[in-house]
Amino acid sequence: MNIDKNLVDKFINITSDAAIACHKHIGKNDKVAADKAATDVMRKNLNKLDINGNIVIGEGELDDSPMLYIGEKLGTGKGPSLDIAVDPVEGTNFAAKNLPGALSVMSVALKGNLFNAPETYMDKLAIGKDVPYDATDLDFSIEKNIKNIAESKNKDLSEITACILDRPRHSKTIDKLKNLKVNLKLISDGDVSGALLVTDEKYKVDIFLGIGGGPEGVLAASALDAFGCKFQGRFLFKTNEDITRAKNMGIKDLNKKYDLRDIVRGESIFCATGITSGDLVNGVKLENGKFTTETLVTHKNSAINIVKKEVPIT
Ligand code: FBP
Repeated sequence: MNIDKNLVDKFINITSDAAIACHKHIGKNDKVAADKAATDVMRKNLNKLDINGNIVIGEGELDDSPMLYIGEKLGTGKGPSLDIAVDPVEGTNFAAKNLPGALSVMSVALKGNLFNAPETYMDKLAIGKDVPYDATDLDFSIEKNIKNIAESKNKDLSEITACILDRPRHSKTIDKLKNLKVNLKLISDGDVSGALLVTDEKYKVDIFLGIGGGPEGVLAASALDAFGCKFQGRFLFKTNEDITRAKNMGIKDLNKKYDLRDIVRGESIFCATGITSGDLVNGVKLENGKFTTETLVTHKNSAINIVKKEVPIT
């Protein structure tokens, strides 16, 4: 069974409208208000669709934002049963501070095909499709991964670029990368976008690695799947509460390394609309009485597009 292609446009409208709702909060230094505006519109519009939607990835617990919660049912209940992962504002700091790279993101798959991930951290690895699958692994040393990537791309180590969140928890990894003479792309936030930089040589990123949000990992995996890229992730649990929640969600092996195929199966639709302009797409523009949005859309087995939309102010 496939997802009805007509739904693709409807999902583009969902993230596009959420990005527009967030637009008036750009640069107001209030990330909760920015997130709430996008979340409210996303929920309202998803509820209008003829779908039987179930939120498998919500957002909020990591940064205490107003959430579309895991298990929330969305849609009129009349259509196909879908698993939905959302991040109404990925990069809330970017939106609040008017910095590049804020996105409104969602991913949709048929019921049972999208991983029901706990809201905890995840150690991640994303690699482009031009590197053989077995050449890299979350369990390999940094050195081995980098050397294997360089060898398969016929590059010098100094020509390799690694993207990683700029966090104190990554200081040892960053030191190792520096010692290998690897170039760094240190991002302050937004690791969905960071992971997607391995999808095309034009971004000049050979490996995305490091610890970020688990929900963001699932969202990135859905897009990376359509691009034929590699993704692996392993959850990290800080507290006993995290562990209990994961166990209640059916996770038995807390140390399991998840491959892309464990996270997303069958076809999925991924939409990421720019709120502020970034590496992947331009942000919302307001000109001549209308908003213009840009959305990166992937739909497995069909074209990967940047879709521009014009929406009159109502
Ligand atoms: P928010 O948009 O929810 O604020 O998340 C931004 C983000 O940078 C994610 O892209 C990333 O996965 C996570 O935060 C990293 O968490 P932390 O800031 O705690 O390192």
